Amino acid sequence: MTTPYEAIGGEAGVRAVLTALYDRLFDDPIVGFLFEGKDRERIVGQQTAFTCAFLGGSERYTGKPLPEAHAALPLLPGHFDRRHWLLKQVLEERGVPEEAREAWLRVDEGLRGSVLGAGEGARERTRGQG
Ligand code: HEM
Repeated sequence: MTTPYEAIGGEAGVRAVLTALYDRLFDDPIVGFLFEGKDRERIVGQQTAFTCAFLGGSERYTGKPLPEAHAALPLLPGHFDRRHWLLKQVLEERGVPEEAREAWLRVDEGLRGSVLGAGEGARERTRGQG
């Protein structure tokens, strides 16, 4: 059986999608500010390992757990939606086979709670400053 990982072209294919995605995110009018001063190579590298693992590759993610990685950011559901939508665009534009595309987007959506949940503290702090 072909895994989504194989269908997408293995580690190189996953990395190409994430490189294109993060090029857009860093310059994005809606969420770009969240990435100011951040290490793009590190985020793409860590996320490549994370994504390969859930698509069926043998890579292992050794970065911070997702709640911890995002805890200091004032992330709102709309920020998550924006990244998810751009991911969908990039997957389509790069001609990733439909099954692999859907598998990736399904897992991505399932991570919403892990990414946003831990940011409540940061959102409170941001509101407090306004
Ligand atoms: C399912 C969705 C997401 C996944 C799988 C994901 C994954 C990751 C990973 C693996 C890292 C690196 C952790 C480390 O360095 O140890 C990271 C960092 C980061 N992510 Fe996400 N992320 C997601 C959603 C988002 C969203 C929606 C945003 C903002 C729009 C975002 C912004 C960031 C930023 C700014 C960092 C760098 C944090 C820092 O170094 O201080 N992420 N993410």
